[in-house]
Amino acid sequence: MKINNGYVDEPIPQGTDIIKEIERLKKEKNAIILAHYYTVPEVQDIADFIGDSLALSQKAAETDADMIIFAGVHFMGETAKILSPGKKVIVPDLNAGCSLSESCNPEDFAKFIESNPGYTVISYVNTSAGVKALTDIVCTSSNAVKIVDSLPREEKIIFGPDRNLGNYIKSVTGRENMLIWDGACHVHEEFSLEKILELKKENPDAKILAHPECKKTILLVADYVGSTAALLEFANKDDAVKYIVVTESGILHQMMKENPDKIFIPAPPIDSTCGCNDCIFMKLINLKKIYNSLKYKAPEIHIDEELRVRAEKSIRRMLEMS
Ligand code: 13P
Ligand code: SF4
Repeated sequence: MKINNGYVDEPIPQGTDIIKEIERLKKEKNAIILAHYYTVPEVQDIADFIGDSLALSQKAAETDADMIIFAGVHFMGETAKILSPGKKVIVPDLNAGCSLSESCNPEDFAKFIESNPGYTVISYVNTSAGVKALTDIVCTSSNAVKIVDSLPREEKIIFGPDRNLGNYIKSVTGRENMLIWDGACHVHEEFSLEKILELKKENPDAKILAHPECKKTILLVADYVGSTAALLEFANKDDAVKYIVVTESGILHQMMKENPDKIFIPAPPIDSTCGCNDCIFMKLINLKKIYNSLKYKAPEIHIDEELRVRAEKSIRRMLEMS
């Protein structure tokens, strides 16, 4: 078996029905496939469970499968491994990183914490195990406001690494004593307010749905702000028929599937060839890589045990508070 550049690089035998084979291998190996809403439609369609970052980490913590195939990015697989060290956790392409996680390295974050003593450290789940190990409470976009709100108002908070989510939490909770790390996700930073307003002009009946990783100027024009799962739930329950969706394009697949009579328009970034905004990392996961990872049980996520134990505390605290 060849692992080339972070994934199993083996040809699929001719005539293989890849979807049937994935189903068979899953049963044979007692494996579960967890997929984030940002993965490509065909990956979402073969997953046992699709969710946002919070739901996926909850599922990873409770599953009794022996092997977790994480169709998502590296920090998601790492979080699953931290919670389930006895399981084999596989991310089908280890190149599936995250620009937001990359914007905060543990060494610099440790210095930031050291220079601001007395602060409670809250980190977004989009971070490495090294950053989680420095953190008091992990959060995701669906529970960040709730977690911050549950702390006494006088408690001083360091929030990292997403400046847009941090500023959004600060404005919703009215907290003054929050220090925010200056990181961002390249996908959500790139949405163009001008193009969104143009779309709104062309579609005045459309509601704007935005993820809190977007810039403040965009959140201000949104009709609803929430995590991917919250945006989907809003679209499912709301009575409008048209939406401009300002988050990664993968979520449109579930939105359209669950609401065949509604219209979902992807918001474009500043420069776009496809008219929508894709996370290049999420889109690295495809059926061939999933098939090969099931077949060869690779490439696995490994974490140093001492680091895992330190990182686990902050994730468990989030799960208890969610
Ligand atoms: P949620 O899954 O919390 O909506 O976050 C989106 C994201 O950017 C995941 O990488
Ligand atoms: Fe990271 Fe942004 Fe991709 Fe999410 S969409 S995985 S935050 S780069």
